[in-house]
Amino acid sequence: MKNLILICIGSLLAVAGVRSETVIADVFARQPTSLNGKWNVIVDPYDTGYFDYRRQPYDADEKITGGYALDKQAKGSELIEYNFDTSPTLNVPGDWNSQDDKLFYYEGSVWYRRKFDALKSAPDHRLFVYFGAANYEADVYLNGHKLGKHIGGFTPFAYEITKLARAKDNSLVVRVNNSRHAEDVPTVNTDWWNYGGLTRDVLLVETPATFVSNFRTRLKAGTTNTIEATVQLDGANKTQKVKIDFPSLKIAAEMTGDKDGIARFELAAPNLALWSPENPVLNDVEISSGADELKDRVGFRSITTSGEDILLNSKKVFLRGVCIHEEMATEGRRAWSEADARKLLGQAKELGCNFVRLAHYPHNEHMARVADELGILCWEETPVYWTIQWTNAATLANAKKQLADLISRDQNRASVIVWSVANETPVSKPRTKFLKALVDEARELDGTRLVSAAMEVHSGTMENHPGEKPESHKIVDDPFGEYTDLCSFNQYTGWYDGTLEKIDHTTWSIKYNKPVIISEFGADAKQGLHGDMMTRFTEEYQAELYRRTLPMLEQIPGFSGCTPWILFDFRSPRRPLPDIEDGWNIKGLIGHDGEKKIAYDVLKNFYAKKAKGEAVK
Ligand code: GCU
Repeated sequence: MKNLILICIGSLLAVAGVRSETVIADVFARQPTSLNGKWNVIVDPYDTGYFDYRRQPYDADEKITGGYALDKQAKGSELIEYNFDTSPTLNVPGDWNSQDDKLFYYEGSVWYRRKFDALKSAPDHRLFVYFGAANYEADVYLNGHKLGKHIGGFTPFAYEITKLARAKDNSLVVRVNNSRHAEDVPTVNTDWWNYGGLTRDVLLVETPATFVSNFRTRLKAGTTNTIEATVQLDGANKTQKVKIDFPSLKIAAEMTGDKDGIARFELAAPNLALWSPENPVLNDVEISSGADELKDRVGFRSITTSGEDILLNSKKVFLRGVCIHEEMATEGRRAWSEADARKLLGQAKELGCNFVRLAHYPHNEHMARVADELGILCWEETPVYWTIQWTNAATLANAKKQLADLISRDQNRASVIVWSVANETPVSKPRTKFLKALVDEARELDGTRLVSAAMEVHSGTMENHPGEKPESHKIVDDPFGEYTDLCSFNQYTGWYDGTLEKIDHTTWSIKYNKPVIISEFGADAKQGLHGDMMTRFTEEYQAELYRRTLPMLEQIPGFSGCTPWILFDFRSPRRPLPDIEDGWNIKGLIGHDGEKKIAYDVLKNFYAKKAKGEAVK
């Protein structure tokens, strides 16, 4: 559809590199060659390898005039001051902070270099290098040529290298810089660790001359037995035949691509079983065109709202959730692998969750794929977090591209039901205009999912309860709520706002007749620290906050789910309290030593009752 072209063109055009980024959907299904493993690295705090002494970039134009992008110093130069071959190594994928104590707090550039051979299986095949993510900014070079610059620390990107790659001894050099800037997305201030590096898979992908670069399958709106599919071809033969086949459903169709290489299908699927957490049925899909064949497994379901209800396959659902950062807390590192995804989502499943909020940025692709299998619904988010530069056009373009790249990657995942465009952003006209633009973008690219954000809450007096103490009444009337499908907000009554007894007096006014999701609540607790329930940072305080908060939330009109903050403790430079926080945000239900806290069972018991539809008052 038009939207799919937008996703592909959006990825091609909104790029600051020499070559355009390209989209390669379902990359793991293409038997890619992994470039994971040990890469030689040069730590470069002054960007010596990127700028000459006048601070002019070496790669300002096609001919790179120097620096580490060249892998080796120019022939004949006497002065050799860098050498990747004899430099140390880091594991890829992996953040550098957790691999080398000298890089624990490091913010700046690290240069990575990997040598590889590229033997194509057919002369007319094409080659691409694919990155699952690099935080925050990546300049990519192959054999001394600039491929491009990717901005955004959590979204995939790929470059075509067909003409530049040699059969033997290619040199892939990447400058990754995780410095923070006010105009970035996220901006300079966040409550998570600024893990830098090539943090996800790096793959060499070979395709036929014309290949399926992206596709989208979904249930036709308003039906339970009609599949809409759109396939995007990339290559010279845009109008070649495209076949889509769902073997287990015994349905298939064939179409030719239009002038833009897009083939559209509508298939009757009389025996279609809808995907749900209780029945996460996935269907094999095979798309073939010319010499290309692509396989995936997709589920079909609908997600809509009706007044204050969330409807999954037209049935009301309560979202028993929890927030997750992309971190393996017991190892103090970024999560990136399928095994990591299975561990994190397995913990959420054990807690009794049917829903997770993947905070505060796009997680790696394995998370939504494993959630598809396990039957866990997902809220995915772009890092428009706190005090973004709302009036900066480049910042908006950056946020839009990160959102478009996320949607392009995960649009076929049945588990993903919410695109979230922000978290806790101070209300202003420029901010609401910025966020509305993101909502429009999300709806333009994918009108089948709910759009939301963690909005703002403020205290006030309840009109019809004039006797109430003002500070005990919370009002949700964030103007951004006009534009979202859900009314979602974070609330920390009893932690950041008062202490435990305030929870019992808190009442709510919600301006919108929409489903309400409490996207965060919680309290810090040091695992193993015990005391009376009025002492902050004890497990008892955290557990009592959960015991009082959950019934308070049940009183909120339209309460349709919650994602307490947070499954695991996670690293944050904002949490220095010695012997308690020590550089960790300890609101986890599970400590960073892997041990569950008392509050874990409070939530688990609440969810067990909700799952059985029991009143929990
Ligand atoms: C905020 C924010 C989180 C943060 C949490 C906290 O609501 O959304 O990213 O970690 O509160 O303060 O622990």
